[in-house]
Amino acid sequence: MSEERKVIVDLKGVNKIYGNNHVVKDLDLVIYEGEFLTLLGSSGCGKTTTLRMVAGFEEPTGGTIQVEGEDIHNKEPYERDVNTVFQSYALFPHMNIYDNVAYGLKMKKVKKAEIKERVTEMLDMVQLGGFEKRYPSQLSGGQKQRVAIARALINKPKVLLLDEPLGALDLKLRKQMQLELKRLQRKLHITFIYVTHDQEEALTMSDRICIMNDGVLQQVGTPSEIYESPATRFVATFIGETNLFDGMVTAKENGRLHISIEPGDFYVPDEDFANHEMLAVSVRPERMLYSAEPVEGFHLAGTVKEQIYVGSVLKTVVELSNGNEVKIERLAGQELPKGGSVYLYWKDGDAKLIHTFDDVFAGAVEDIVMQ
Ligand SMILES: Nc1ncnc2c1ncn2[C@@H]1O[C@H](COP(=O)(O)OP(=O)(O)O)[C@@H](O)[C@H]1O
Ligand SMILES: [Mg+2]
Repeated sequence: MSEERKVIVDLKGVNKIYGNNHVVKDLDLVIYEGEFLTLLGSSGCGKTTTLRMVAGFEEPTGGTIQVEGEDIHNKEPYERDVNTVFQSYALFPHMNIYDNVAYGLKMKKVKKAEIKERVTEMLDMVQLGGFEKRYPSQLSGGQKQRVAIARALINKPKVLLLDEPLGALDLKLRKQMQLELKRLQRKLHITFIYVTHDQEEALTMSDRICIMNDGVLQQVGTPSEIYESPATRFVATFIGETNLFDGMVTAKENGRLHISIEPGDFYVPDEDFANHEMLAVSVRPERMLYSAEPVEGFHLAGTVKEQIYVGSVLKTVVELSNGNEVKIERLAGQELPKGGSVYLYWKDGDAKLIHTFDDVFAGAVEDIVMQ
């Protein structure tokens, strides 16, 4: 991501508290012009609240939100260049599709001829040309959602906010709409801030993903950055599958850390950790290597517990001495004898080290607050 990109939405130290429920905690987030940014997290983690604050429907308890360098609270909702699409379509049932899409332009007193041109163009864009005279009740769920999107885009907002817009659609239609929405966003070059709890949807559509957990931003990055280098234990387990080992640095030598976990120990190249620091190590199942012989620098012995073919993928489960299970995934490969001994290892760079001090600290602060 280049440094010169123009910032369009800027959240600084944003907090939202409802009663004694601290829903969004010290959120700093910059969104660039023309990007597709997704807020991803489990239900209740504060995604909708964040989006509603950007839309100006909800006032932050603390912090500031700027759109194009201007505090959004200096503007009335209708003056803002931000539009929203919700999961429920909220179309006007008594208006036909043309009038539904034209509504915003009529309110702005745009000339009739221009309205016609823009509505026609927008309906073509969402592949609903020829549906002008129909009423919402005569459309499928997917078509209704396309109308809602056309209606939101017709005013050419700088930023479009979408709150789980495909949540009500069945899986097949959802997948198709994901691709269409992404195509539309690229074509119009409008900034999308998209909310979903579906990691696959986020990975498919986004330029960058912002992962939240319990109101706290965990990591912002491209889909591959987040998958390859999870910043927190939460991200490592929330996105895809991983093997997570909790351990401690027991020595540092020549740029390598000696790390001990319960069932054994190993060396990893890294400088960014202190001696005796607690950490977590994440190794994706497809990066986990095994050998029938002990491997230098690793003392991770286990036994093969299970091997399952899932389509073309071979999944192997190895049990370590403390009973923990390690997942290994291969496209094809030689099966290992069940019950046989294996030694686990990985290439430098395939083990991602995660600071866990913050987890411990956050827990401690929460304990103090609760008292
Ligand atoms: N208007 C409100 N009043 C009180 N609590 C709210 C309100 N809106 C949301 N919440 C609470 O804030 C938390 C986050 O909600 P929300 O932002 O809707 O989560 P998400 O969209 O990630 O599922 C939840 O605990 C929810 O109950
Ligand atoms: Mg929500």
